[in-house]
Amino acid sequence: MNVYEAIARRRTTRSFKEPITEDQLRKLLIAGAMAPSGSNVQPWEFIVIDDDKIIAQIAELKYLQSLKMNIDAMELNDPKIIEKIHQQALPGPLSLQMALRQRNAYQNCNVVAVCNKKGHGIGRKPWMNVENIASTWMCIENMALAATEDGLGMQISILREHYKIIAEKLLNIPEDHELATMVMFGIPTEIPSKREMGTIRPDFSWLHRNMFGCKSE
Ligand SMILES: Cc1cc2nc3c(=O)[nH]c(=O)nc-3n(C[C@H](O)[C@H](O)[C@H](O)COP(=O)(O)O)c2cc1C
Repeated sequence: MNVYEAIARRRTTRSFKEPITEDQLRKLLIAGAMAPSGSNVQPWEFIVIDDDKIIAQIAELKYLQSLKMNIDAMELNDPKIIEKIHQQALPGPLSLQMALRQRNAYQNCNVVAVCNKKGHGIGRKPWMNVENIASTWMCIENMALAATEDGLGMQISILREHYKIIAEKLLNIPEDHELATMVMFGIPTEIPSKREMGTIRPDFSWLHRNMFGCKSE
């Protein structure tokens, strides 16, 4: 597979039948750590999580976060509202099934917390943090492409706001680092051939010439 094929074939895998070996995992992490980074800071850290209790807690946070997207402004800890959502079980991108799927994706796989060093150098500046975040995501993409090449699945499972803060405490992530995202690797139950949500933007709909909005012929 050449790199263009890997780019085209890479799909998010949200269901795994078994974890990958430690050697396979290390190979992917090494591919990640070869990514470019602003000022070559290499701001990434990986926490490989194999404690089932911790995995279950992270999966629960992801579930609650996804559920919260469902219920939006409704009160999360109101059991009546939760029950109502369970009963409705609406299909669609923000449904209960989706929330369960986000939780269940933590089964039968290798769970890795990808952390990011927050900025760097004396007198940290906001752009330093942005560069570090960007660098860590380049590392994540390297791993995704390497996993594709190796016939393995990968899912990004992002935690936001207070779900992220709780996870950071749980994983003992120090103050000068943050959780970029959770990532899962595994043998896919099936490799999705197409994207599960959203639409594909037509090629070159994103291309401008000289100024934003000026389309090339
Ligand atoms: C920053 C970022 C966060 C994402 N978070 C999640 C997530 O929490 N759960 C999930 O299932 N997929 C997540 N994804 C994967 C996207 O949903 C997926 O890449 C997109 O739908 C396109 O599908 P594809 O990866 O199969 O091409 C995330 C991707 C990115 C880049």
